[in-house]
Amino acid sequence: MILEHIKLRNFRNYESLELNFSKGINILYGENAQGKTNLLESIYVLALTKSHRSFIDHSLIKDGEISSKINGVVKKDGISASYEVLLENKKKKCFIDHDEIKKLADYISNLNIIIFYPDDLDIVKDSPKLRRRYLNTEISQLDRNYFKILNDYTRLLKMRNESLKNMSSYSGMEHPYFKAVTDYFIDKATLIYKMRMKFIKKINEYCEDIFFDVSGHHGFYVKYESNFKLEDLTLEEIKEEMKKQCRELAPQEYRSKMTLFGPHKDDISFWLKDINLRTKGSQGQQRMAILAIKLSEIIVFENYCHEKPILLLDDVFSELDDGKKNNLLSYISSDIQTIITTTEISNIENSILEKSKLIEIENGAIKKITEVEKHGRKQD
Ligand SMILES: Nc1ncnc2c1ncn2[C@@H]1O[C@H](COP(=O)(O)OP(=O)(O)OP(=O)(O)O)[C@@H](O)[C@H]1O
Ligand SMILES: [Mg+2]
Repeated sequence: MILEHIKLRNFRNYESLELNFSKGINILYGENAQGKTNLLESIYVLALTKSHRSFIDHSLIKDGEISSKINGVVKKDGISASYEVLLENKKKKCFIDHDEIKKLADYISNLNIIIFYPDDLDIVKDSPKLRRRYLNTEISQLDRNYFKILNDYTRLLKMRNESLKNMSSYSGMEHPYFKAVTDYFIDKATLIYKMRMKFIKKINEYCEDIFFDVSGHHGFYVKYESNFKLEDLTLEEIKEEMKKQCRELAPQEYRSKMTLFGPHKDDISFWLKDINLRTKGSQGQQRMAILAIKLSEIIVFENYCHEKPILLLDDVFSELDDGKKNNLLSYISSDIQTIITTTEISNIENSILEKSKLIEIENGAIKKITEVEKHGRKQD
């Protein structure tokens, strides 16, 4: 898929901006704090209606304004459509071809984005919550049902926790209402497990080879961490396992007044043979793990959706050594639309620069554009 055009109004430090992108590589360059990442972020928000670096939607609206609008024209399968995200103080609206899309799930599965950014490393290093968020975001882009099921699950989890909180005796665990909520909760949890396992399995088909290409080391894989071993279980078997857990944990759940099993407790881990990279990996290995996973995602996304995703690379060239940089470059050299931010164009190889559209950003506006065919002049 190709983002052909973007239009911003009151987004971060942009009052208004209109820009055409090339279908190949686009490089946003300029000094610090000019709005390069903001522009990249606007594309992420256009696709996912949330930011990759801020949990607070309100911070996306330009200071002193009350709303912000991102509009993009995206070509998929030869057909262009307009996408729009409108951010208001506490509201968010999405439109496709000017029709409002009421269900977020029906919106976010349309545009596929893979982003590389310096804080990616936190996915390996930080808390399980961040890794669940990563999984949920990626799978929601691939399958609209996932997002819907996840919402139902979260609602049922809340209801179940409320019931546990209000339970005045252990016999409450046998109450028909609590049992019904638990049954629905297990149904949704089972589907989430199945979809997460499918995603991890797909990533594992590619990430070992990619990790080897990047680092020369064999044996990299991603593992889904749950209370029980999920691999190769059928939906029915997962359900049975969950029911077993539910029975076993009942006394503990009654005491703690909280649901103690289910995919909201799970995690993923990254392994190089028998080394857990979160606890024992070097920073370089952790970065390679993320690189390998995201590069695998490019292939997984294409297989799922029969369209190449859009790649966003925020300031990653300064972070990577030459080997990894070249590996990343070999992926972006293939025909996939890529939007890169950098302060230093000199960080990027000439062979890439020659086929890139160069966009200089200054103080929330475009200062200069060099189209691909005009590169002869750029060298002056
Ligand atoms: N809601 C907002 N309203 C107005 N300005 C904002 C808002 N949010 C951020 N900014 C401004 O945007 C600028 C930062 O933009 P951005 O993060 O895109 O910089 P950058 O060009 O990527 O810089 P660097 O090279 O350091 O990464 C800052 O000057 C910041 O004050
Ligand atoms: Mg930046």
